[in-house]
Amino acid sequence: MGSRAMNNFDDNAKRWTDVAKGAVNIPVRAKAFKRLLKGLPVTSILEAGCNMGFNLMAIKTLGNYELYGSDLSDYAIEHAVCPPDIKLTCCDFAKSEYQDNSVDMVLMCGLLNWLHYDELEPVIKRAFEISRKYILLIDHFHPPDSFPKLSQDAICNLEYLVCNQGKPMFWIRDFEKHFKRCTKVYRRDKIPELSDIFPMGAILYKKED
Ligand SMILES: C[S@@+](CC[C@H](N)C(=O)[O-])C[C@H]1O[C@@H](n2cnc3c(N)ncnc32)[C@H](O)[C@@H]1O
Repeated sequence: MGSRAMNNFDDNAKRWTDVAKGAVNIPVRAKAFKRLLKGLPVTSILEAGCNMGFNLMAIKTLGNYELYGSDLSDYAIEHAVCPPDIKLTCCDFAKSEYQDNSVDMVLMCGLLNWLHYDELEPVIKRAFEISRKYILLIDHFHPPDSFPKLSQDAICNLEYLVCNQGKPMFWIRDFEKHFKRCTKVYRRDKIPELSDIFPMGAILYKKED
């Protein structure tokens, strides 16, 4: 297993923020969220790992949602693109102080692939505590060979740490095994509008009553 030091994502968060600024197209992302959220009884959404808030801005164009975001990176929050009615908090989501059952949906887009293995369960647990109804997980579900040609610096426990120029980018791993006490509503392996930087898919989980 890679050490925490190998996973120096503070630099990565800044790098992602700078890359995302030029690459993310909010209207294009909105098309994806329109399909993903269609028909769901959801009026409030909290994005864990929202970075500058592109997804929240995309969702805002779709209707009158109550929107919240949290990100560990103060650089990302400082450079946020959101107006003040989208409430952003700089914190570790696993230790965040949102009230339990306080939003209809927790969204995690490109977050879990950043986390060290030990951080996965606390983040997912917190998502299920805060959400009343749904967790929308958007992440890299593709096999490693479908990724752009990046070097794989470490392969451990069937997890792949994908690096670019020696710097850690993200883990490819089986997220599904961490989602046990919930119902899978859908799984879509390829969401072109959300794959502006890397291939992304989506799984919607419903909390068990
Ligand atoms: C790949 S970026 C994804 C950004 C955004 N969700 C998007 O789709 O454009 C992952 C983000 O997760 C944040 N992050 C990593 N660990 C976190 C944690 N424990 N709590 C909150 N945010 C975290 C990083 O700072 C980074 O901004």
